[in-house]
Amino acid sequence: GAAVEADISDLAPGAMKTVEWRGKPVWIVRRTEETLADLATLDERLVDPRSEVKSQQPAYAQNTSRSIKPEYLVAVGICTHLGCSPSAVAKGTANPGVGQDWKGGFFCPCHGSTFDSAGRVFKNKPAPTNLEIPPHKYLSDSRLLIG
Ligand code: FES
Repeated sequence: GAAVEADISDLAPGAMKTVEWRGKPVWIVRRTEETLADLATLDERLVDPRSEVKSQQPAYAQNTSRSIKPEYLVAVGICTHLGCSPSAVAKGTANPGVGQDWKGGFFCPCHGSTFDSAGRVFKNKPAPTNLEIPPHKYLSDSRLLIG
């Protein structure tokens, strides 16, 4: 499968873009400092907060932010339950997925699986694992290679 290059120079803090890689949507999200700080508060509510299941990400993304550069999340935008497309849901939104104190992340409309801003799945949801992080690397500050 061919790797795909993405230009991230136009991605403002808090913004997200989707590129296609091997027929799959890959999300690139530029997280704010606030979003990164929120990630550290969620461990007890997550199935696999430290992303210890290696099959879900390359070793360089096996950390709290699940990324090479904490600012950028690069994740396959396919629910790990049955493959629906989760939607981004902003912090503070009344989210049926996890009730109060929503810090922002992704919600799958099919059966309610809920993921944080690092694609980590919340407990008591049908999706068993965190969203997949595809192999990727930075070619420069503004160019990302996925695949
Ligand atoms: Fe996403 Fe079932 S496919 S919760």
